[in-house]
Amino acid sequence: MTDNSELQGFYKLSMEERREILKKATSLTDEEVGTIANTGGLPAEVADHMIENVVGGYTYPLGVATNFRINGKDYLVPMALEEPSVVAAASNAAKMARVKGGFTVTNTGPVMIGQIQVVNVPNPEAARGKLVAKKAEILKKANDQDPMLVSLGGGAKDMNVKVLSSLKGPMVIAELIVNTGDAMGANAVNTMAEAVAPLVEEITGGRVFLRIISNLADRRLVRASAIFDKEAIGGEEVVDGVVYAYAFADADPYRCATHNKGIMNGVIAVGIACGQDIRALEAGAHSYAARTGTYKPLTIWEKNKDGDLVGKLEMPMAVGLVGGAAKTHPAARADIKVLGVKTAIELAEVMGAVGLAQNFAALRALASEGIQRGHMKLHAHNVASSAGATGELIDIVAAKLIEEKKIRFDRAKELVAELSKKGNSE
Ligand code: MEV
Repeated sequence: MTDNSELQGFYKLSMEERREILKKATSLTDEEVGTIANTGGLPAEVADHMIENVVGGYTYPLGVATNFRINGKDYLVPMALEEPSVVAAASNAAKMARVKGGFTVTNTGPVMIGQIQVVNVPNPEAARGKLVAKKAEILKKANDQDPMLVSLGGGAKDMNVKVLSSLKGPMVIAELIVNTGDAMGANAVNTMAEAVAPLVEEITGGRVFLRIISNLADRRLVRASAIFDKEAIGGEEVVDGVVYAYAFADADPYRCATHNKGIMNGVIAVGIACGQDIRALEAGAHSYAARTGTYKPLTIWEKNKDGDLVGKLEMPMAVGLVGGAAKTHPAARADIKVLGVKTAIELAEVMGAVGLAQNFAALRALASEGIQRGHMKLHAHNVASSAGATGELIDIVAAKLIEEKKIRFDRAKELVAELSKKGNSE
């Protein structure tokens, strides 16, 4: 907490100087400043150039999900997140999927949309026609911005123009359709959109305001599917339970938000580990889920004629391997190496499979024993550790909390005090 958040010239200082100021402004202890200063696997000078006003780093645990077999290939999947049970659930689901061959994933290619908003157009329909007539010229201008991408087979491939009726009257929206190759593509697309804007103004006689990528990446989809053998997942009852869980999500947005959140548990954890723009992934996923005007599940679950469970996922997956933190963050580079993906679409496909696995694991648990038993075990370890237990004491305190069915910080503190005293006097 601080009394004054106006830190003049803060951005010009070194990280160390910023920490000094922060310490004075917020009464952080030396130990707390030391914790913040630690940039983990990210060299301090790299961190200092990634964002502004950098004072240190923030580290998540990195887990590795096992058992994934995707399109006939095995993967070890790095996942960075704070939530217990997610990595175990993904590994477990992937193990069950292996029984029937693992996951099959396809994709629609790395295609993003860049939007150019034109207002004050005297005749919007006529302007639309004029833009369409000058499409080749506009695409050339866009592609001149990124000869490297074009040389690799990417670039602006097409342009759509639509007329929207809005709160402020009609507006013309030109949409560049860009193959972004191995990049997530925000930089490439935004540069193109900004570059063509003057030409778009000249053609339409209107005024351009926004020139920006759309995160509703509905031309950059992954489609993952898997068959889960009924015996391997616990019998026909579980199959039915998962299908009912899906029907619930399909019928009710309150449930559907949580259903899709479970998918994103996996997608985002891999996204963080691999240095992706996870805000873009979330925006893409949820806007795609709501594209019909009703918020819907990103997966479908059905029983096939053999009584096995069939899961299918379809969602946008705008990820990249060149540019951004995937290249600058050494831990992200190492994680991508663990995964062994060679292209952005391969990364997208793996993330789609992980999303489907995560959703399956959640629905299976919810439709049978519930998720709290597994969660609570890990939660108890977290509580024990934050109450000051270290080493073996974490397991002992956690076991006691579970036994007493009181997984609470105050009880953990009492146990740590009691057991440490006992340990010291023995
Ligand atoms: C918890 O992080 C995720 C779940 O709530 C997902 C779901 O309910 O499907 C278990």
